[in-house]
Amino acid sequence: NLTTPTISVIGTGYLGATHAACLAELGFRVVGVDRDRDKIARLAAGEAPFSEPGLDDLLRRHTASGRLRFTTAIRVAAEHADVHFLCVGTPQSAAGPEADLAGLWAAVRDLGRHLTRDCLVVGKSTVPVGTAAAMAAELGRIVPPRISANVAWNPEFLREGHGVQDTLHPDRLVFGVDSPSAELTLRLLYERPIAAGVPVHVTDLATAELAKSAANGFLATKVSFVNAMAEISERAGADVVALADILGDDPRIGRSFLDAGIGFGGGCLPKDIRALAARAAALGASSAPALLHAVDEANARARSRVADLALELCPGAGARVAVLGAAFKPRSDDVRDSPALDIARRVHRAGAEVRVYDPEASLNARAVAPELTYVASLETALRGAELVLHLTEWPEFAAMDPRWAARLVRWPVIIDGRNRIDSGRWAAAGWTVHSVGRPRRGAPARALVADPAG
Ligand code: UDX
Repeated sequence: NLTTPTISVIGTGYLGATHAACLAELGFRVVGVDRDRDKIARLAAGEAPFSEPGLDDLLRRHTASGRLRFTTAIRVAAEHADVHFLCVGTPQSAAGPEADLAGLWAAVRDLGRHLTRDCLVVGKSTVPVGTAAAMAAELGRIVPPRISANVAWNPEFLREGHGVQDTLHPDRLVFGVDSPSAELTLRLLYERPIAAGVPVHVTDLATAELAKSAANGFLATKVSFVNAMAEISERAGADVVALADILGDDPRIGRSFLDAGIGFGGGCLPKDIRALAARAAALGASSAPALLHAVDEANARARSRVADLALELCPGAGARVAVLGAAFKPRSDDVRDSPALDIARRVHRAGAEVRVYDPEASLNARAVAPELTYVASLETALRGAELVLHLTEWPEFAAMDPRWAARLVRWPVIIDGRNRIDSGRWAAAGWTVHSVGRPRRGAPARALVADPAG
């Protein structure tokens, strides 16, 4: 019954769990499917398996009402839903830069074989362009006789920490379709955001798939561009923050994603630019792979430059280093490909005694970097530190009183890897402040290091 379609969401990671809960909020009956029993048990109990503002509330309300269910049996989805959203993760392959689609294909085949009714299969996962067409062909081969499974692509641009908001109030909708009925179904599902004025882009399947990779590729390029400008600024005595403000006032450029620092990380941008470069190369495109590799390399350099500076400023082996932040960005407990954690590990490997404080990500960080020491407060991290690294811009770090912090540390030297602390105020409180792409503030750290008493 396509007036109120029943929905399944296959893959309940970050994207799928949020999408399932938001569709329930929009009024649909939804079943979420995943192979991970623990995850499904937590979701079914109305609890988000990761931290995401607003998600717990949606899960609690809609699992209680029965509008939202969770199961490990894809058969349940295949037999009951009119629309299936594919939200299976597509991580980077262990062996190379390309995306690993094994999980996605397993889900598609499992679903296809169990179908007992006509349906629309809508891809949301980030995939190499061309996957949707291959999927349509595969479904054509494997679905039971007299059953039709149409394919559409509807990429998602949600940011971690804003997932619920971005899903309920997207800034655009993309419908990659190859039939009018697929478009109609998607318009029905997104009736509310469309009524609220969200622009809809109806395209072919390939453009919709590419839209997601290209959006992330462009955001990554902006960050690497400004980090490249930061390196020039440092060498020339310029200030990259003022520079970004000037660039940002040009509406053709825009100020967002021009914050210089230790670069981008997380579960999307790094793997997506590598996958896009690999796919571009496989398609025989000549300029995209080189451009995207340069973006990736500049991002790696942004981390190394801060790690190298930290080692230069460490007063010898066994130096005590306070690391503020482990998550790849603030308001997230995600440490996947986190530049902060990467730098902390490098400084530790070089022989420093590293103490990490992160308001939310310590548990996840400990799982991937158990060699580091995690402390439960900012104060414990700072006490006795000979160098402070500010690596994830949690608001509480920028809000800290530099005089209070100066009394706790052994030497008041900080590298602000996110350009978020007020360097003038910190310098006035006696700190040496190294930022990214900005002139140093306060006395040279070496002078302090040479004379700890003074
Ligand atoms: C990103 C995209 O924004 C989102 O549209 C897509 O759906 C998934 O990937 P997310 O991974 O949640 O979202 O992180 P985002 O907030 O975009 O930040 C990515 C990384 O870039 C972070 O490590 C952040 O610290 C870094 N960044 C961002 C900068 O270094 N400078 C900036 O100016 C902006």
